[in-house]
Amino acid sequence: MGRFRLFLCVLAVLAVLPDADLPYAYDWNNGQPQRCTKLLKRKEWRMLTSSEKAEWVGAVKCLASVRHQRLSLTKDQTALEGKRSLYDDFSYAHAAVEHSVHRNAYFLPWHRWFTYLFDTSLRDTCGYSGPTPYWDWSRDHADLFASPVFEDSPEYGLGGTGDCDSSPDADCTVTTGAFGTSTGNFHLAWPVPHPLRRNLTLITGWYPHELPQNDTIGPDFVRNSTEQTTGDFFTFQRLMTKMHDHVHNFVGGDLAGDCPKPLLEKDCQGMADSFTPNDPLFWLHHAQLDRLWSEWQHYHPSNFAAFSGTPLMPNNMTDPRYYLDVHADYKMPFDVQSVPVAPRRVFDTEVWPLCYRYTDEE
Ligand SMILES: *[C@@H]1O[C@H](CO)[C@@H](O)[C@H](O)[C@H]1NC(C)=O
Ligand SMILES: *[C@@H]1O[C@H](CO)[C@@H](O)[C@H](O)[C@H]1NC(C)=O
Ligand SMILES: *[C@@H]1O[C@H](CO)[C@@H](O)[C@H](O)[C@H]1NC(C)=O
Ligand SMILES: *[C@@H]1O[C@H](CO)[C@@H](O)[C@H](O)[C@H]1NC(C)=O
Repeated sequence: MGRFRLFLCVLAVLAVLPDADLPYAYDWNNGQPQRCTKLLKRKEWRMLTSSEKAEWVGAVKCLASVRHQRLSLTKDQTALEGKRSLYDDFSYAHAAVEHSVHRNAYFLPWHRWFTYLFDTSLRDTCGYSGPTPYWDWSRDHADLFASPVFEDSPEYGLGGTGDCDSSPDADCTVTTGAFGTSTGNFHLAWPVPHPLRRNLTLITGWYPHELPQNDTIGPDFVRNSTEQTTGDFFTFQRLMTKMHDHVHNFVGGDLAGDCPKPLLEKDCQGMADSFTPNDPLFWLHHAQLDRLWSEWQHYHPSNFAAFSGTPLMPNNMTDPRYYLDVHADYKMPFDVQSVPVAPRRVFDTEVWPLCYRYTDEE
């Protein structure tokens, strides 16, 4: 724990240095890929044993139990107040750099590094040593509600849908599983203190002519996305974004950025994506998207380092999310979680420092 705090302190200081002086915490060795001494495994949630699941769940709760005075700076350079946990820091960091990472060309590479940082935190701070889980929702498209990721075991289950109705304050609070209120030991602080919330639904009612959220996340759609976009990172990523959104919308609550009850809707304006990492399912969902990107990269040689500068936003030069000049050497920001990292650095998951591989083998 002590080591990790120190690490954050160092990074917070580095983050304000001019770019040219930035001594990389990772010695990238000037473009020469370094070999990994060991490749970590990433496995589908249902391939984990109950005790592996319990170990992962325990590590997440461990991170959420480490109180942490936020080191980040606001726009006017004052330090943010408040005791939060190391877990909340990930939601906060996701919010802090929101404009730089969503609905634009950096979506997949940014989340690859972010997911890696979280996984590293679980291992370094909380001693996690099992496989990194992902949720292949395409296997569950015909009945998402019955997916094993919603198991209600208080030891190893991620819990089911929330209670939206029992009282006016119910707020879709998750009561089951290890993160539900029945265990009483998983608390979230961002953007206000609140319990984990979910509202599983195929039709959210948020869009006109809405199709069920499970309509385009099945294996055929995934296969087509991989096989019909060779060399075209823009189109591939756009399809990934679609599937990404459907799963967020289906799960609802924190994962969909629903405003927590203590806040007014107007206080949540524009925050929809920002606190989605509050739901531990976020990490399994993003590992799945990362896996699909990795599969696409290996599907054809012209995919591996493909990275197109086309933004995902409609052309709007004044929108801060419209990057005309996107490139693989742009330094993506990670708030205090990490030094900035360029997409090019994360293309290969099997070289240092990423060092992981998707596999369901023993
Ligand atoms: C979506 O889910 C519903 C209910 O679980 C199911 O009847 C339907 O077939 C699913 N659609 C697809 C495309 O999987
Ligand atoms: C939960 O989702 C349903 C749609 O299935 C919606 O009608 C309802 O308002 C949502 N509840 C809350 C509290 O957001
Ligand atoms: C996949 O692509 C084939 C060939 O273009 C098409 O016929 C099929 O409808 C597609 N499936 C999905 C789910 O998009
Ligand atoms: C372009 O983006 C700016 C900043 O977000 C916004 O104020 C404006 O309404 C947008 N214009 C259009 C045509 O969407």
